[in-house]
Amino acid sequence: MATKTGEGFSSSFGAIMAAAGSAVGLGNIWRFPYICGKYGGGAFLLVYICFVFFIGMVLMMSEFVIGRRSGEDPVKAYPKLQPKRKGWRYVGIMGLITCFLILAIYLVISGWTLNYFWESLTGTLASISNDGFGKHFSEFASSAGRPVLFVILFLVFTAFVIIGGVEKGIERVSKLLMPILVVLLLILCVRSLTLDGASEGLAYLFHPDFSKLTGEGILAALGQALFSLSVGMGVMIVYGSYLPVDDNIMKSSIWITICDFAIAVLSGIAIFPAVFACGQDPTGGPGLVYQVLPVVFNSLGTVGRIFSVVFFLLLSLAALTSAISLLEALTQWLSSEKIGRTISAIVMSAAVVVLAVIASFSFGDGIFSGFKIANMQIFDLLDKLTGTILPPICALLTIIFFGWFMNKDDIYDELSNHKTLKIGYFKVFYYFLARFVAPLALIIVLVAGLFGK
Ligand code: TRP
Repeated sequence: MATKTGEGFSSSFGAIMAAAGSAVGLGNIWRFPYICGKYGGGAFLLVYICFVFFIGMVLMMSEFVIGRRSGEDPVKAYPKLQPKRKGWRYVGIMGLITCFLILAIYLVISGWTLNYFWESLTGTLASISNDGFGKHFSEFASSAGRPVLFVILFLVFTAFVIIGGVEKGIERVSKLLMPILVVLLLILCVRSLTLDGASEGLAYLFHPDFSKLTGEGILAALGQALFSLSVGMGVMIVYGSYLPVDDNIMKSSIWITICDFAIAVLSGIAIFPAVFACGQDPTGGPGLVYQVLPVVFNSLGTVGRIFSVVFFLLLSLAALTSAISLLEALTQWLSSEKIGRTISAIVMSAAVVVLAVIASFSFGDGIFSGFKIANMQIFDLLDKLTGTILPPICALLTIIFFGWFMNKDDIYDELSNHKTLKIGYFKVFYYFLARFVAPLALIIVLVAGLFGK
């Protein structure tokens, strides 16, 4: 169903690329490896796979169904599908608030990435010695001017694509960038795997050590699965509302999920062997990509320099397609309130940049770093809220709505494209997951993670 503005993706391929573009981002390349490293490598990976395919993917399909069936933004979608229970709109509102918070922190990290791209290009990174990257990163990220400059630059690119429109902006950019990203990641994997000592990194990533997997790690795996697939905050409802009428929702969701998962694992393969080969700490936290990869690039001479430029450019582009979908969700909601698309995008950008700058200043030893809420710096608080707390709560409510409040016939009608597709056996399994398994797992993990210390 087309939305009221008539905007939408032109083909299933374009829709898959755009949604995969939303899913594949810093979450895969920057966040996944360090979280995986923190919580035990292989053991974390196993739990993560289950969450991705049994919960994340189910949520993605559900959000697509809610979006396409209603043809509305997340706030209006719920009441439209269930007019007697208008209170569900708060789930949509909570989703958009989550998007706003994610976008703020996302911009900060995207800004770092863009800066690293610039520094690769100009040769600054190449001139730093191998043990100097930790200091370089923390000094840069904690400074006031430069990170903000790059945040703003990145946001301008993002807003520019949004203003271009759904098909001519988002879809076109995603179709171009996603394939390039995959090819570059593959090349990087090959290089990393051929370094001396690479096998240790692979063992770290794939050999499960369950002693390191804590309750907190399980919650982090769920949070990461939702974060990585961009579900649990309404963005896929927005993209669902742009899906072509003949798109096979189940098939597209499976492809997007596989693509997202594969890219996360490939990033692990690109990063961990290199981490071990260069004698770095695999549990290095958020700075892993910025402190460890430059060492690898530097050890490869001129080729490394080219790699460095290309890698940080592509990381910036992966971040861009994700940031686009976040800003799009906010823009779609605002512009449906009778304000034009351009103005909406600008207003939302202006609002989010304020929070992004505050978050940037609060990182590391930044000028706001002394200011704490619940004993956490604002950057860390945002990371925790958007990484492990809000998406699971939103996801739980979304899946309960889908499984228990939406009309079952409507769901099947939407999944089967008005009974033109056969979804027989799969639909039973899927509906069962959506109704029982996913909500239960979400409740258990949430309760355990929030209260079970
Ligand atoms: N999935 C994105 C990534 O892996 C991050 C993200 C989380 C996101 N939630 C989102 C992107 C919502 C777009 C919309 O980097």
